Amino acid sequence: MFRLVCVHCGAEYSQDEIIYRCKKCDHLLTVKYDLDSIGIDKKEMDKRPLRLWKYKELLPVTREPISLQEGGTPLYHLKALGEELGLKHLYAKHEGMNPSGSFKDRGMTVGVSMALQLGKRTVACASTGNTSASLSVYAAKAGIPAVVLLPAGKVALGKVAQALMHGARVIAIRGNFDKALEMVHELCVTDGIYLLNSVNPYRLEGQKTIGYEAVDQLGCVPDRFVLPVGNAGNISAVYKGLLEFKELGWTDSMPKMTAVQAEGAAPVVSAIKNNLDVLVPELNPETVATAIRIGAPVNAEKALTAIRKTNGHALSVTDDEILAMQRDLARKEGIGVEPASAASVAGIRKMAEQGLLDADEKIVCVVTGHLLKDPETVIKQCAPPTEIDATIDALRAVLR
Ligand code: F0G
Repeated sequence: MFRLVCVHCGAEYSQDEIIYRCKKCDHLLTVKYDLDSIGIDKKEMDKRPLRLWKYKELLPVTREPISLQEGGTPLYHLKALGEELGLKHLYAKHEGMNPSGSFKDRGMTVGVSMALQLGKRTVACASTGNTSASLSVYAAKAGIPAVVLLPAGKVALGKVAQALMHGARVIAIRGNFDKALEMVHELCVTDGIYLLNSVNPYRLEGQKTIGYEAVDQLGCVPDRFVLPVGNAGNISAVYKGLLEFKELGWTDSMPKMTAVQAEGAAPVVSAIKNNLDVLVPELNPETVATAIRIGAPVNAEKALTAIRKTNGHALSVTDDEILAMQRDLARKEGIGVEPASAASVAGIRKMAEQGLLDADEKIVCVVTGHLLKDPETVIKQCAPPTEIDATIDALRAVLR
């Protein structure tokens, strides 16, 4: 049993209403369950394998889900980087290990299943890349058409390749992500297409399972949860999920929710710093981490609550800091992530250097997408392969 509730005025809507914002005050909606009657205890749940659908009683889907076995991603102990930074319990949850290579698959297995549950037969999104790749994959699995809007020339190659290969209608607009989102939202409302950006509260339900899994993998609630922030849906989702675990009595604390943005696209960081309730959009967001090149995060309201209520942090990192951490994760930990994903760990490096962290803190950084998503940014940072004649002497000479 669940309903949709406005996070601002508390207005309630039934679960079959197709609605993305409160009709009374235009604020965001969230999914509220009757947690007293979910009908399973944690011990029973823990007998199931670790993956997203382990938590099905805390998800809104009642039909057979459209699934490609998402979730159950590795939680790596970052030993080398932790030692360097003086942190004993530094972890990375590698969301790049999901079916399409990013955490968006958690949102889309739930979101596309909900589209079908609600009788919708066409889905759409705007995207900096990963959302479009994931939606294309799940629409293909469901056998329904998908329309995706991208900011022209600003999406990493691997992501465009995925959207095209999985058969979505891919449209590149001459404008940025924020404009694309505004356009697709209007299209969906007027043309009856189902909108699967993170303004859709059901999509965030899938993404909250990152928090559930991390708690189950660690065996406790971490002291701090660190996420790269673009549209601010993921940090809001993880916070919501962990509050539910606490309300159920399955945990007894909350992590400090920590948002890391790229310096050229950091409106959430400014809002926290200046103590604002309504964020001032960044009109020309720019960063090498194109996944989080967003100036007007649609979920800001939820994210600000998550950060403030948990005594968390919001900080920005430069493109150079992001890329340096992308290389460090790759070379010191064997973890390949795209630039936006490295932002979370780059933020932790910055906080550690500023003396803001305790050596014993248990810290989970979400690394959100796979290295192969953005091969061009990788190639630009690395020396090209050394080409030689095909002889053993030439090989020995070059290795000497
Ligand atoms: N990391 C990656 C790799 C992303 O693709 C995104 C968002 C984020 C972090 C930020 O998450 O928006 O919930 O704060 N990508 C979206 C997209 C916007 O269209 O793929 P957020």
